[in-house]
Amino acid sequence: GPLSGRVRVPGDKSIAHRAVLFNAAASGRARIEGLPEGADVLSSIAAVRALGAVVEREGGAWIVQGRGLEFEAPAGVIDCGNSGTTMRLMMGVLAGQAFAADLDGDASLRRRPMERVAAPLRRMGAQVYTTDGHAPVRVGGTRLHGADHDLEVASAQVKTALLLAGLQADGMTTVREPLPSRDHSERMLAAMGVRLERGDRTVSIEGPAVPRATDIDVPGDPSSSAFLLAAAALVAGSRVTVERVCLNPTRSAFIDVLARMGMEITISSSDDCGGEPVGDVCGAFAPLRAVDIEPELVPSLIDEIPILAVVAGRADGTTTIRGARELRVKESDRIAATAGLLGALGVRVDELADGMIVHGGAFRGGVTVDSRGDHRIAMAAAVAALACDEPVTIHGSASVAVSYPGFFEQIEELVG
Ligand code: S3P
Repeated sequence: GPLSGRVRVPGDKSIAHRAVLFNAAASGRARIEGLPEGADVLSSIAAVRALGAVVEREGGAWIVQGRGLEFEAPAGVIDCGNSGTTMRLMMGVLAGQAFAADLDGDASLRRRPMERVAAPLRRMGAQVYTTDGHAPVRVGGTRLHGADHDLEVASAQVKTALLLAGLQADGMTTVREPLPSRDHSERMLAAMGVRLERGDRTVSIEGPAVPRATDIDVPGDPSSSAFLLAAAALVAGSRVTVERVCLNPTRSAFIDVLARMGMEITISSSDDCGGEPVGDVCGAFAPLRAVDIEPELVPSLIDEIPILAVVAGRADGTTTIRGARELRVKESDRIAATAGLLGALGVRVDELADGMIVHGGAFRGGVTVDSRGDHRIAMAAAVAALACDEPVTIHGSASVAVSYPGFFEQIEELVG
């Protein structure tokens, strides 16, 4: 049946990692409201606790007591679980410390590329050892010096790791990106009193600079809200409003694409939440048409591509997604996983090295799909199932807890 209602999704995962890590590195005490408690963010909390930061839950909020960029050596290996953001940002945190530390993660995280952070950190003087380019990673502390970095891929994780190292380095660190990636770090560091210079696809920071602990109210995660809006897009008669969603332009392209596909989208109660734009997003069902996703748009909807492909699977026409090679090195190979999911549902997909072509049609239920242990693939499969006449069995559905505990309950609530 149709989905209807007003809901809030968990706080934004990207902002949450930064709120924890930056405040742990800052001087002073900060209160974080709306921190999502998915497994990934808990990995960041555990990581900074291992370095001696005090992070405690107080009622519905979290309190972080910052260490002013001087951490303690951890007692053992820091386990980043499934979280690439935790591992890559921690590499930046550790690069300028007075001790060496080891970072590791689960089987999925051990497959993801780490040289993209390690190599530029070495250019700042850091001692970083990867295992054939992967985790486990050892970061040995040294005095860092600023450097100019020209990134090959638009990656906010790499950019942020380098800015965290830049805070500890002597002199200027500049990061230049091929396309703009999400800019939560720039916004949050500026709010924490750090002087940043921002240009077209560049950001510079002069170190050493200790951020000032800053209270943060985390807005709703647009990547989580995407699944609910997509569900409304697929099931006739649906109308769903997601309240207080982060509408940072480096994150909001999925909403624009739904509108381009013909969905009725309205945004209300626009506001500012600690330097991030927020608003209530209402999406109502309408017949959808295919779209072409240009490579320039990809960074601003990178995590939404699996669910976008599912929506495209039911749209009228052929959707082409290009310039998304990065999907191959996410929690799973998301191009292969998404093509596998849509294929199981009876949709024709041509896999490209850097994207896919989705031939819209109908979904066939009564099938079993494999999420490959990837939270976003599991949720994409669940949303697709809502548009099927027969049930869909999802293997690895527990992975949704990585970013969106309560996802299934919230879908049930909306279906009524
Ligand atoms: C993130 C950046 C993106 C995104 C990830 C979170 C971040 O990764 O896919 O889910 O919080 O900085 P990349 O930096 O690898 O593009």
